[in-house]
Amino acid sequence: MGILEGKRILVTGVLTDSSIAYAVAKLAQEEGAQVVLTGFGRLSLVERIAKRLPEPPPVVELDVQNTEHLDTLAERVGEHVGALDGVVHSIGFAPQSALGGNFLQTSWEDVATAMHVSTYSFKSLAVACLPLMKGGGSVVGLDFDASKAWPVYDWMGVAKAGLESCSRYLARDLAAHGIRVNLVAAGPLRTMAAKSIPGFKDFEESWPARAPLGWDLSDPVPTAKACVALLSDWFPATSGEILHVDGGAHAMG
Ligand SMILES: NC(=O)c1ccc[n+]([C@@H]2O[C@H](COP(=O)([O-])OP(=O)(O)OC[C@H]3O[C@@H](n4cnc5c(N)ncnc54)[C@H](O)[C@@H]3O)[C@@H](O)[C@H]2O)c1
Repeated sequence: MGILEGKRILVTGVLTDSSIAYAVAKLAQEEGAQVVLTGFGRLSLVERIAKRLPEPPPVVELDVQNTEHLDTLAERVGEHVGALDGVVHSIGFAPQSALGGNFLQTSWEDVATAMHVSTYSFKSLAVACLPLMKGGGSVVGLDFDASKAWPVYDWMGVAKAGLESCSRYLARDLAAHGIRVNLVAAGPLRTMAAKSIPGFKDFEESWPARAPLGWDLSDPVPTAKACVALLSDWFPATSGEILHVDGGAHAMG
């Protein structure tokens, strides 16, 4: 018996098979979950990637900036699964001007896009899924430690600080629905989102050296394991938490 046996989980954010969301969806299925994916943009691409999973899941379209997509999400997901026990938010985007050392020059329009897609969407997604979560459940988001100013991460770092706060407020307001809300703060991983950060290679060199347990930038499995654990019944009294999966780097001086 897997730890997600019988659970129905919505996983957002699969773009390639190196996406953190792909690793989460794969492990969730291996642990017994029924998975539904959401896809953004080129759905045929996401559907092609979805076929590589142990059990190809249905893919439902979701652009978190599209109100109609959000308003109809529960209905469209509900066609595949009657209800949800868990939701994974693995979505992030910032325009190029918001990353890479341009912090003092970035326009509000570009910052607003980063915040809309990477921060506000955590709330939008959770609320959009509420009609399917009448039995309670677990909402998990992907974070990058926002307690520090990093090289090159810039406004994405501000967006993640907002995500961390948003997660605590959601934990407060969704507890009445029996829903836990937590974040997994992963160390750097080589994904499409990471490749779009100019200067990402600074992290590639420094992180494995700082992390006492070491850190493999091409292995999303430790991060996926934490997400799956938080989706399971093994964290029944944990909400508003940030679980670091970074080789221990966050704790080092
Ligand atoms: N890669 C890392 O180093 C790292 C580290 C810590 C946290 N994270 C976080 O993990 C999450 C997943 O990123 P990833 O690294 O797997 O990269 P990824 O590029 O594989 O995933 C990012 C996802 O965001 C989706 N997305 C972008 N705009 C969207 C929109 N408007 N509506 C819906 N979806 C949209 C993309 O389609 C993609 O699937 C992000 O929140 C990211 O910040 C990544």
